[in-house]
Amino acid sequence: MTILSDQLHLHRDQLDSYWMPFTSNRHFKAAPRMLASADGMYYKTDEGKTLLDGFAGLWCCHAGHNRRPIVEAIQQQAATLDFCSPFQFAHPLAFELANRIISIAPDNMRNVFFCNSGSEAVDTALKIAIAYHRVRGEGARTRLIGRERGYHGVGFGGISVGGMVANRKMFGNLLAGVDHLQTTHNLEKNAYSDGLPEHGAHLADELERLVALHDASTIAAVIVEPMAGSTGVLFPPKGYLQRLREITKKHGILLIFDEVITGYGRLGGAFASELFGVKPDMITFAKGVTSGTVPMGGVICTPDIHNTFMTGPHGAVELFHGYTYSAHPLACAAGIATLQLYKDEALFERAAAMAPKLAAAVHSLKGEKHVIDLRAFGLVGAIELEPRAGAPGARAFEAFLRAYDKGVVLRSAADNIVIAPAFIIDDAQIDQIISVLRDVINSID
Ligand SMILES: Cc1ncc(COP(=O)(O)O)c(C=O)c1O
Repeated sequence: MTILSDQLHLHRDQLDSYWMPFTSNRHFKAAPRMLASADGMYYKTDEGKTLLDGFAGLWCCHAGHNRRPIVEAIQQQAATLDFCSPFQFAHPLAFELANRIISIAPDNMRNVFFCNSGSEAVDTALKIAIAYHRVRGEGARTRLIGRERGYHGVGFGGISVGGMVANRKMFGNLLAGVDHLQTTHNLEKNAYSDGLPEHGAHLADELERLVALHDASTIAAVIVEPMAGSTGVLFPPKGYLQRLREITKKHGILLIFDEVITGYGRLGGAFASELFGVKPDMITFAKGVTSGTVPMGGVICTPDIHNTFMTGPHGAVELFHGYTYSAHPLACAAGIATLQLYKDEALFERAAAMAPKLAAAVHSLKGEKHVIDLRAFGLVGAIELEPRAGAPGARAFEAFLRAYDKGVVLRSAADNIVIAPAFIIDDAQIDQIISVLRDVINSID
């Protein structure tokens, strides 16, 4: 017996106090989707129904659910060292995990700063960028540049550089001194691309326009997702990220890749930076680092950035930033076990090996009702539906609900239905997802 209730079926009046994030609370509470347990590729609901998880939780359970080596590492750590202040103290697992992350990160990266989520990782990276320039004597470099349709979490820094209107418009003036590049999404030129889109590398040149407008001496950093995930899976046009790197380098601007989704194998390599052959100055990560089991995020950076701070009087704090739960022992234990499992089961390679199968399955939906684009790369696929007049996003949300009823968990993002399964998915499970999707798409108005 533990303190945890084994009561699975809650009454309607027990659902009020939990204010759910990014959820239509009233819609959900009228017909809850309550998950009770998980194993491998599957969830079980409170009613005992089995669901195939086509979304790895929320783009995070890369190794599948409730994997023994990770569960055992967390259990062991909870019983050994429950907490350790990360301010002026540390525990060995924090260093071990940082070393393991560096061993799979791009080879220009040497240092890891831990936090607890993607949002915190983004705000941490933005703060490091601004402070880095100040320490170097370029304190006027405070401007940050994001991109339309970017998602960088929900902190004030993240929503300021982010480009999702709904996430920004309710929250006042946001950070001052932020500008945005154009989105790279272009259905006219790139619909039904096989892999990365051909058209759009030139959109990176817009950064030159922003430099001309603001002057490079005022710009601290550019932040982009190598693949924009939450606005519907927008892959980078061929050559676009390379071009951004060239322009940022030319003007002394830091380049941050937000790899909260793409990090830890999602596109078939440890990080998208490596896969696309572009080396940013900082990478933000979260999600896959613990396969979703314990909250953790972080920033990986170059020794130039890290060492710039390692000055000043001995004993002085170099960076006035951090969180009570930075490098939490349970998260570090989970991270170490997760990275070991990725290695033991060659899961990044498996993601790469399954990618063509997923791409072919996604593209087989061409010509189905409402479909206006299909995109796939790595272990991610998106089906873009024509928006319902006057109700953007409604069609994809309805598809998500109907897929759930048919036993498959997916996600809707604007007018896209997104597939991003755990890397242990097999051929039959991909077929099941696509077959359910085909039925669902054809069944909605
Ligand atoms: C690219 C990106 N950055 C940041 C975040 C925010 O992460 P979190 O929800 O852990 O704060 C997300 C979440 O999906 C993301 O996709």
